[in-house]
Amino acid sequence: MQNSGTRSSRGQWGSTFGFIMAAGGSAVGLGNIWRFPYITGQNGGGAFVFVYVLCVLLIGLPLLLNEIALGRKSGKNPVGAIKETGGNRFWQSAGVLCVLVCFAVLSYYSVIAGWTIGYIFTELINIPVDFEDFVQTPLYVIPLCMIFILLTIFVVLGGISGGIEKAAKFLMPVLFLIILLIAARAVTLPGAGAGIEYYLSPDFSKINGKVILSALGQAFFSLSVGWGLMITFGSYLPRDSNVIQSSGWIAGMDSMVALMGGLMIFPALFALLPGVSPDEGPALVFNVLPRVFDQIEPFGNIIGGMFFLLLLVAALTSSISMLEVPVAYFIDEKKWSRKKATWTIGIAAMVLSIPSSLAAVKGNFFNNMGFNFFGRQIAGFFDLMDFFFGTLAIVVICLMLSLYTGWIKNVKEYAAEIGQGSTFFEGLPKKAWIFFIRWICPIVILLVLLNMIGIFGTPGEGG
Ligand code: PHE
Repeated sequence: MQNSGTRSSRGQWGSTFGFIMAAGGSAVGLGNIWRFPYITGQNGGGAFVFVYVLCVLLIGLPLLLNEIALGRKSGKNPVGAIKETGGNRFWQSAGVLCVLVCFAVLSYYSVIAGWTIGYIFTELINIPVDFEDFVQTPLYVIPLCMIFILLTIFVVLGGISGGIEKAAKFLMPVLFLIILLIAARAVTLPGAGAGIEYYLSPDFSKINGKVILSALGQAFFSLSVGWGLMITFGSYLPRDSNVIQSSGWIAGMDSMVALMGGLMIFPALFALLPGVSPDEGPALVFNVLPRVFDQIEPFGNIIGGMFFLLLLVAALTSSISMLEVPVAYFIDEKKWSRKKATWTIGIAAMVLSIPSSLAAVKGNFFNNMGFNFFGRQIAGFFDLMDFFFGTLAIVVICLMLSLYTGWIKNVKEYAAEIGQGSTFFEGLPKKAWIFFIRWICPIVILLVLLNMIGIFGTPGEGG
């Protein structure tokens, strides 16, 4: 097979800092601020948060290192990486699944990002919006989503260090500061205590198969692990960069923002909307936050507008990386130009986003559709996409990638790849990583999947 050029001709990060910011920018997104709180609410609060943190540390982090190693070693996109390292068609299918997942999630992720754009304006001009009315109006929601995908396309056209890196570098710290401010307001509201308790004190009796699958899925979603994204971004890394340190930063930033995200939502929910249940789903953040902004005097709406603007930027640094995965695949493997790949996939994502937008419209076909999957009720097109691509497929990819490097390949070579550029990864940490990637990651994921299909009893619990 003809090689698609040297590493540097594919593009490379300008610096390790640039990589951390771009990979961290990919990780920090709507997953932290929109998805994490509502999934926490659907899975019982504190107990979920507890399992989530364990999933990040014990499963997510080893897999993050695994993906970066695969990418840097091969210098390729997810499919190319497995081909290049000698994986057969079966293992390459994990790479194909990565490309598909990124494309599929981009389509519905953009719908939520579109809502965010709408909220920037309604906050700034300070008009109260009824979330239900808003999402039921395709005339608003569809164009906003298209605008977001167009923005994504423009950045990806700029290429690696020109577009993505520059966009990622500077706005994230500002977002974090605003989140701190909002969380501080939320926890000091009268009546916030119940929310803090719900969020932070785990009721261990609530942990079951469904909670664990959701926590695992959310950890992978949020860390951008299991999408081939870290393979792709790792392939733009120079040989001597320190991946251990970078991964620590990426996982640390991502978890901080998610945990703070929850701290903005639950205290405020219990204080300001006592009638609303935490498990109401994707609407949660959009219902709660505007009420918090109203409580910040005198410029709450300006803060609100800024918050949604920065959330939009966070969503954009995530969506560009989602689009980058299929684009890198078509450039490397099908020899398409960056321009052709970006436009083709971007426009296809626009088309696929329409049913997700319409899924919020009551009575609509995409809203009504639903079925039962091993005891899990799938309700509407959006839910279908988020479960199959945003949760299940990612978990399967992580299983395949851990088996691939842990058992099919010589795992020591990958450990050495991770260690290159860092002095810390000798002795115990290296042994621990090998143990986790060979045993802990695949076994835990397998048990969760088997539980989902009801091997250990009622499938109702499983997903
Ligand atoms: N991690 C991102 C988020 O939390 C989602 C994402 C996953 C983005 C994979 C790119 C690639 O929003």
